[in-house]
Amino acid sequence: MDQKRKLYIETYGCQMNFSDTQIVGSIMTDHDFETTGNIAEADLIFVNTCSIRDNAEKRVRARLQEFKRYKKQKPGLIIGVLGCMAERLKEQLISEEKMVDVIVGPDAYRDLPRLLNIAEGGQKAINVILSADETYADINPVRPDSNGVSAFISIMRGCENFCSYCVVPYTRGRERSRDPQTIVKEAEDLFSQGYREVTLLGQNVNSYKWDDGTGFAKLLERVALVNPLLRVRFATSHPKDLTDELLHTMAAHPNICRSIHLPVQSGSDRILKLMNRKYDSSWYRQRIEAIRRILPGCAISTDIITGFCSETEQDHQETLEMMKWAAYDYAFMFKYSERPDTLAHKKYKDDVPEAVKGTRLQEIIDLQQELSFRSNHADIGRTFEVLAESLSRKSGKELSGRNSQNKVVVFPRENYKPGDYVRVRVTACTPATLKGEAVAE
Ligand code: 5AD
Ligand code: SF4
Repeated sequence: MDQKRKLYIETYGCQMNFSDTQIVGSIMTDHDFETTGNIAEADLIFVNTCSIRDNAEKRVRARLQEFKRYKKQKPGLIIGVLGCMAERLKEQLISEEKMVDVIVGPDAYRDLPRLLNIAEGGQKAINVILSADETYADINPVRPDSNGVSAFISIMRGCENFCSYCVVPYTRGRERSRDPQTIVKEAEDLFSQGYREVTLLGQNVNSYKWDDGTGFAKLLERVALVNPLLRVRFATSHPKDLTDELLHTMAAHPNICRSIHLPVQSGSDRILKLMNRKYDSSWYRQRIEAIRRILPGCAISTDIITGFCSETEQDHQETLEMMKWAAYDYAFMFKYSERPDTLAHKKYKDDVPEAVKGTRLQEIIDLQQELSFRSNHADIGRTFEVLAESLSRKSGKELSGRNSQNKVVVFPRENYKPGDYVRVRVTACTPATLKGEAVAE
């Protein structure tokens, strides 16, 4: 009789966005909705959006066009745009994309039920107010797509670094940390539900700070102490404030994973300055040396932007040099995409031709491919503790998991199941995965 209305949510962008989608899921299921993976049966469609690069926004715009079809079939269908694009474009998005009924920024999700009421009354509804203190600390995320083994925990929101290329400080607002008690409690609950890995998320986790003096190293330790069988990861670190204290905390707890994501963005000091990154290449190298010294065997990954304003061939070569020197295990690599209203948009010219950006990106990708392969190849013959996560996509006969270094490891299933820790000896590799077999303890 009282059938619940169905919500379909599609998510783009960073892990933080995926984590926000789980908060939205929780708010909506508390208000008489249930989530569905089948868009055709939805009464309500949400897209949680990303603005980081122009192509991320283009993808969402194209998707919104496709939603028109569902609206024709079901006239009462409500379409909501959530997240960074909603925050960046505000009312403008409603005037440009007529099929959109609701616009909600990242700090306004508690207001969703009220906004839906307005939309159901036939009016457009919008809330893009950013907050200085919203962390959704009391909301218990629903994790419908979870593998039941690994989960994200959002520990802080917003960003105040103002890297000159970046839209995030404008779309996600002021930096604020979440109460550590609620974070530890969430980790404990997840562990008792059978989860074996949590990733602590924030735009810049190293600047986590709570009123009682808890900094990120302390928080990480508290989560690591929940249980030695609970793996702990975190993302993302800013090189300017990755401390030795944090590295020593990691070294003291084997369940804190040996993997650090440390975005370098560029190897050129001149470009780093224009990017407002607040470190230079020698500071960055000295941070990598500290990782190598305090945490031997720790994997290091990075983000790189190529073709930033005024970047020369010399600057580009310095980026390639940095990559070789750091010997990254993994990298996310992007062409610079100018974002409206950022510092770079106001102050500098996006003057590297598209074709040059393309060539430089390809050189960066080719080099990283070689570095990743070399890193994986060096693991052949080594034995790692792997947390099994899921049946391998290609064949149900294999399990797929990750080692502490965050490398994907595939091995014959035997009698193991997701959630098990398995010692696996690596026998072969591709640039993207390690292959191996379980060995006795
Ligand atoms: N253009 C290209 N890449 C960007 N990133 C952030 N802003 C931009 C931009 N305007 C990249 C950075 C960041 C990652 C999440 O996205 O490398 O670390
Ligand atoms: Fe995209 Fe950045 Fe917003 Fe994440 S915070 S959704 S990466 S714009």
